[in-house]
Amino acid sequence: MKRYSRRDFLKRGGALGALAAATGGPVPVFPVPDTGTPFRAVASGNGFRATDKAMSVLRAGGDPLDAVIAGVNIVEDDPDDMSVGYGGLPNEDGIVELDASVMYGPTHTAGAVASLRNIKNPSKVARLVMERTDHVLLVGEGALKFARAHGFKEENLLTDKARAAWLRWKETMSDRDNWFPPRTADLPAEVRSVMSTHGTINCLALDAKGRLAGVTTTSGLSWKLAGRVGDSPIIGAGLYVDNDIGAAGSTGRGEANLQTCASFRIVDLMGRGLSPGSACLKVCEAIAEKTKLVPRLCDDQGRPKFGLEFYALNRKGEFGAAALYEGSRYAAHDGAENRLRESAYLFKRG
Ligand code: GLY
Repeated sequence: MKRYSRRDFLKRGGALGALAAATGGPVPVFPVPDTGTPFRAVASGNGFRATDKAMSVLRAGGDPLDAVIAGVNIVEDDPDDMSVGYGGLPNEDGIVELDASVMYGPTHTAGAVASLRNIKNPSKVARLVMERTDHVLLVGEGALKFARAHGFKEENLLTDKARAAWLRWKETMSDRDNWFPPRTADLPAEVRSVMSTHGTINCLALDAKGRLAGVTTTSGLSWKLAGRVGDSPIIGAGLYVDNDIGAAGSTGRGEANLQTCASFRIVDLMGRGLSPGSACLKVCEAIAEKTKLVPRLCDDQGRPKFGLEFYALNRKGEFGAAALYEGSRYAAHDGAENRLRESAYLFKRG
């Protein structure tokens, strides 16, 4: 990928004033795709199959909301993605609680569910909240009751693999309780690590009529307190779409996003002339600055001790992504080719 120097980048963002000093490497050029087709689908790095599916829906004349939901349903249904839907890592009680939101550009409407149990496709329930109620967000038992009313099948979302990872976390959390840890050698490789994770999938799409839509869906922070809600179902944080400007979404530490309304800010910055990738990076910089106010969240260099990634697509079909740390990738189908691309980043690792 061709790269711009930071000076070039600053010039591009100059109308908004100087950026805070960043310590990352060179800033990638954010492509202006000219692929001879207006269709676009953009997703987080775990969304390669989602962008592929979304593009097939768009090409068949489908609506971008149908496209993004069909895309993320693949990942929600996949037990091997332990950050989303069925097979997602559970809360501290060993119960999977899912969050999701959708937003549709042409009507500027949104729907969301939070702390939803037993339903593996929260994105579909979020859509029904948008289309079949006068509300935007349903949570917990109310969200489940609503899903049941619409005929969703209840099932145990905790797979054996996710349960084993949870048990490992529980048994190694403290040496002052009554849970003894197993021998590491007895554990499958994938459950030896019990780090908290914030995986999620976000998917955004644009069709030939200029319609934008987005979805964000997740099992949220692993081992979270029961009832904890992250950024994914919060409109303006985990997802935001303005059909006059563009769409943005996020993955990573939801608490940092909830306190900065990042997706709304990214769309707002695109509305003020920034490219999608530059807008994502600028919000990363703002979050890194605010994080300095909370020492427990900073490493010894004053950098955030967590990850956060943003994805954006504007109504012209330009797209980009940025993360706090290098090494993050995102999926983008530009109408001609679906591939994983490097996100811009603020900080090098190490
Ligand atoms: N971004 C997902 C979460 O924090 O729940």
